[in-house]
Amino acid sequence: MRRCFYAAVSGDLGLTGVAPLAFGRATMPKPHASLAEHYNHLDEKQTFLRRIFDDAAPHYESIARLGFFGSGQWYRKDALRRAGLRPGMRVLDVASGTGPTARAIRDVIGDEALLTCVEPSAGMLAESRKTLRCEHIQATAEAMPVADESFDFLTMGFALRHVDDLAGAFAEYRRVLKPGGKALILELTLPENRVARFLLKLYFKYTLPLVVRVCTGSKQAAQMMWYYWDTMEVVVKPETIVQALRAAGFSQVEQRTSIGLFSEYEGVRGEEVRPATDDGAAPSTA
Ligand SMILES: C[S@@+](CC[C@H](N)C(=O)[O-])C[C@H]1O[C@@H](n2cnc3c(N)ncnc32)[C@H](O)[C@@H]1O
Repeated sequence: MRRCFYAAVSGDLGLTGVAPLAFGRATMPKPHASLAEHYNHLDEKQTFLRRIFDDAAPHYESIARLGFFGSGQWYRKDALRRAGLRPGMRVLDVASGTGPTARAIRDVIGDEALLTCVEPSAGMLAESRKTLRCEHIQATAEAMPVADESFDFLTMGFALRHVDDLAGAFAEYRRVLKPGGKALILELTLPENRVARFLLKLYFKYTLPLVVRVCTGSKQAAQMMWYYWDTMEVVVKPETIVQALRAAGFSQVEQRTSIGLFSEYEGVRGEEVRPATDDGAAPSTA
């Protein structure tokens, strides 16, 4: 069942061309607006996130298995390979959480010494260290204490909604990648189809948090699942993410979405790099 489910995901992915940059960094939107049910103001978002991810960390792996019927690891590895990840590459996994994407990377590159994980939650880092013997750094995507031009490949798995500033995060991604290096962002996009959307909402917003609450006994883990759905409903459109990648100086930017739900964004750091201008002009990259 696992492979059948993701055969649809990994098969027939249409590459989407996108419009040129339409906004500058000064007007770059947040990934989403404040979520009043969870916190009062966007300034409180990172504190709120730190608390729910710290508290839910011991349960994250079992929740992730419930969320996608255990198919997540197969999908992550497949997406990484399709994006060009190869043995021997130096990789930075941002928002690594307990390490599901990082473990998929390790399996592909074959050497965890080549892998670095960046993650702000101490609870998530502690869980990750149980299965990964790579470098772990406590930081956010927007300010990573990592040297310029040090990675061949950068990943972010199902966490883009949590950053505060798309432009700041993508500028960091470009800075730490070597020229020619690639960024791959995996994220969920809600399907346009209203029936599919309704069924997903029934599962993610109402069923899964209840199952998580009963199975883990953790109120915070259940709240993480409510929050998960709420952010999916309000997150910016894929076009905005693509434009933000271009604004940050990535070239060959592509977006693939399958079964209207799983989005993969990728971009290459060009050889010639110039920062985006405030008036919205796209930088030219090789
Ligand atoms: C849903 S988990 C994703 C974990 C993992 N990447 C995966 O593939 O399942 C989201 C993670 O994003 C982290 N996060 C939240 N805000 C962040 C930020 N500003 N920068 C980087 N990571 C952030 C959280 O602490 C959490 O561990």
